[in-house]
Amino acid sequence: MNAKNPSTMPASTERRMPFHKYKPFKPVSLPDRTWPDKVISEAPIWCSVDLRDGNQALIEPMTPNEKMKMWDLLLEIGMKEIEVGFPAASQTDFDFVRQIIEENRIPDDVTIQVLCQAREDLITRTCEAVSGAKRVIFHLYNSTSTLQRKVVFNMDRQQVIKLATDATALVKRYTQPLRDAGTEVVLEYSPESYTATELDFAVEICDAVMKVWGPTVEKKMILNLPSTVEMATPNIYADQLEWFIRHLPERDKAIISLHTHNDRGTGIAATELGLMAGADRVEGTLFGNGERTGNCDLITMAMNMFSQGIDPRLYLSDMPRIVAIAEECTKIPVHVRQPYAGELVFTAFSGSHQDAIRKGMAVVNKEGGAWEVPYLPIDPADVGGSYRETVRVNSQSGKGGIAFVLENFFGVSLPRPLLLEFSPIIQKLSEQRSGELKPDEIWNAFVKEFIEVEGPYKLVDYDIRSVGDNVQACDARITVGDNKIEVSGEGSGPIDAFVAGLVETLNEPLNVVEYQEYALNEGKEAQAICILAITDDAHNKYYGVGISQSTVTAAFKSIIAAINRKWR
Ligand code: KIV
Ligand code: ZN
Repeated sequence: MNAKNPSTMPASTERRMPFHKYKPFKPVSLPDRTWPDKVISEAPIWCSVDLRDGNQALIEPMTPNEKMKMWDLLLEIGMKEIEVGFPAASQTDFDFVRQIIEENRIPDDVTIQVLCQAREDLITRTCEAVSGAKRVIFHLYNSTSTLQRKVVFNMDRQQVIKLATDATALVKRYTQPLRDAGTEVVLEYSPESYTATELDFAVEICDAVMKVWGPTVEKKMILNLPSTVEMATPNIYADQLEWFIRHLPERDKAIISLHTHNDRGTGIAATELGLMAGADRVEGTLFGNGERTGNCDLITMAMNMFSQGIDPRLYLSDMPRIVAIAEECTKIPVHVRQPYAGELVFTAFSGSHQDAIRKGMAVVNKEGGAWEVPYLPIDPADVGGSYRETVRVNSQSGKGGIAFVLENFFGVSLPRPLLLEFSPIIQKLSEQRSGELKPDEIWNAFVKEFIEVEGPYKLVDYDIRSVGDNVQACDARITVGDNKIEVSGEGSGPIDAFVAGLVETLNEPLNVVEYQEYALNEGKEAQAICILAITDDAHNKYYGVGISQSTVTAAFKSIIAAINRKWR
């Protein structure tokens, strides 16, 4: 049967997903919203929830050792608020909290946070866990969403408010002995699934909790407004926040905290717009590890600010180390395209991008000033990367990429006609390979093509003598196939003399038409590279390259290489 015969084709190839199963999220009515005109100008209070939300979402939760490694990393990058676990729900978490308190591992400017559900037994156990800490954020939560009230708890609004306020009263009562013993206790209340909660109800329950806890302007409590499951576009989260903040009776006694998840892939966008809408604090994890599609990625959040000239108040300069420890503790690889941290995020394979980066870098290196390099939103060196790794060569790359690699890895800058000759060789090689060519492979191809060129001639050795004013004589031994022959000539310098000898002895018509020589590296082991072109009687041009500790040897080798290329 002929598959292309129209009579055998189906009438339509169109297929439909069951989109009718889903309903659109209702936007917030806030025509006088102000957040779109706001600009993020300073870092929020960061709170890492890696050791709780992140850990809860792992196939293999962190071992005590891994928790400690992650804790140390969070301190190292400058995290000042860290949710260390759900101690009433997990013995490992309980033991970890005890360990960092008893071993005095919490710096004075760092506050631990512990999660707890609105249940008396869990509240007392949590208080036990944090006893002896200098400052603690007691994170109380219950779900307030319309759906969960109906299908999970079977409670009306007033019952849910009572649940939250009773629990707050219990936290107040059971933390009193801690306070008496000198621990500062901050309450954080999360109406879980805030984004799926009626806004007026969210305000009502948060206000009721505040009334029981009794925060002041000086001693605020934290209201954490989670997008537990991301359900709408990020602008809607911002509207929900601006609405909430406008309607909360005692906003000045609350720190408004954001806690987004990434179900629609816009957890970071939602958090950024949430900050524009007036929030003060952000909870999230390194690289966004967390339930389902993850939490808000604090690294990207902070680096986004950094790239706008804002102090992120996190120290992320050794990104490879942060990645390595996060991967080790979570056993989840950081994606090669992970913003600011992935292996490929500062790499250009495309020829036009490589060219633009090269030119942009030249301007930045020469003129300084604010970072402005095409295709590189930040300087990779700021996160422990290297400018050298920005350009990698595959079949999509052009001569710019090859020139970049030779310049930056080997210190060799090629004249443009030579580059034009070399570039198709690399193109062909990478096509054959169907993949990337590493710098060493590019170099080896260069050596094979221009330096150690297969051909009839080989330089054995030579002597140079002065034979008069500005006249030098060269006696060189070369092999031609299996024969060793003497080449002698005179000229104004060694190259002239060698060329004269070659022309005479070998009857090789050749002119040196281009010549450049420079040091490849510095110090005792310094090598010179000579890049030279000869022409024959028909004006064909042949490049040859020589490398040696002696500038004369490098030049002679380059001539031999050029002649061999001619004979190839
Ligand atoms: O995602 C969420 O809602 C949470 C709460 C416990 C804050 O993790
Ligand atoms: Zn969460």
